[in-house]
Amino acid sequence: MKITVVGAGNVGATCADVLAYREIANEVVLVDIKEGLAEGKALDMWQKAPINLYDTRTVGVTNDYSKTAGSEVVVITSGIPRKPGMSRDDLISTNAGTVKSVTEQVIAHSPEAIIIVVSNPLDVMTYAAHVTSKMPRTRVMGMAGILDTARYRAFLASELNVSPKDIQAVLMGGHGDTMVPLPRYTTVGGIPVTELLSKDKIDPIVERTKKGGGELVKLMGTSAWYAPGSAAAQMVEAIVKDQRRVFPVCVSLEGEYGISNSYLGVPVILGKNGIEKIIELDLNAGEKELLEISRGKVSEVMATYDSLMAAK
Ligand code: NAI
Ligand code: 2OP
Repeated sequence: MKITVVGAGNVGATCADVLAYREIANEVVLVDIKEGLAEGKALDMWQKAPINLYDTRTVGVTNDYSKTAGSEVVVITSGIPRKPGMSRDDLISTNAGTVKSVTEQVIAHSPEAIIIVVSNPLDVMTYAAHVTSKMPRTRVMGMAGILDTARYRAFLASELNVSPKDIQAVLMGGHGDTMVPLPRYTTVGGIPVTELLSKDKIDPIVERTKKGGGELVKLMGTSAWYAPGSAAAQMVEAIVKDQRRVFPVCVSLEGEYGISNSYLGVPVILGKNGIEKIIELDLNAGEKELLEISRGKVSEVMATYDSLMAAK
């Protein structure tokens, strides 16, 4: 079984590496436009196989989509990351065209593939891939919620000095500063976090989570890759192994949560058909208000995408 990762930069290469060393696929094809980059990284990963003891073949190509033919899942990470001072939305003028053209080439060679978008601005790039591919919404989705939730879980684990494995949480909305972490649905070994931490302790963690991507951009001068690459690989694994994992995933909403014509992170069941089910939580008034603010922000950037495409 073949998985393609488009973009052999920081996130794409990390995702391909996790897919390989965890033997989630038999073959991982890495694609980039930069001559030799994907070939080099794929060869380096293959030379790691005798050390880390895995069989997955890693193949790199420069823009040759014929090698991606018949991929079961395609992860799109191509595009530019942000630099300090930029928001994810500032990336749209460059990344919109990239994601659109990559999606066209992916679909031409793997019409049955499930697509996972990672490029930013995430929710709108998922929209771009969905409308370009003309596939059902269950087969085109965006990765952000697993990453944002992981940041929230990691911060809580540090605060409580417990294993991050024991923290379960849900985070909804767009992949930006308006994302909506939900302390009411956060547990620590089955215990509601609200019984273990006061609001005074939880609120700063929620705020840090919302700005978690920016914190790393400030530190490194570019955006994160270890957690994003692993998060995308976890989605691939759920699909190819039909695990029916429950994750927050960006998807086209068609009436769920009273929202239509928008792409937002919501909890879903992820299995062999992609999004098997969207889970609708009974949000309270405050949570609904936050989700609506997030929807408004994503809609603004969707409108920018529409005008960029109309101008072409
Ligand atoms: P990077 O700059 O390290 O890698 C991007 C790669 O895409 C480069 O190697 C570039 O040559 C390649 N590329 C550009 N246009 C291409 C095309 N048309 N076809 C094939 N390859 C192409 O960037 P990084 O850090 O890997 O980030 C990639 C994207 O993922 C960025 O847009 C970033 O903002 C986003 N991101 C999203 C996250 C999320 O949670 N959804 C988390 C982290 C990053
Ligand atoms: C992140 O949250 C940049 O979206 C990317 O790290």
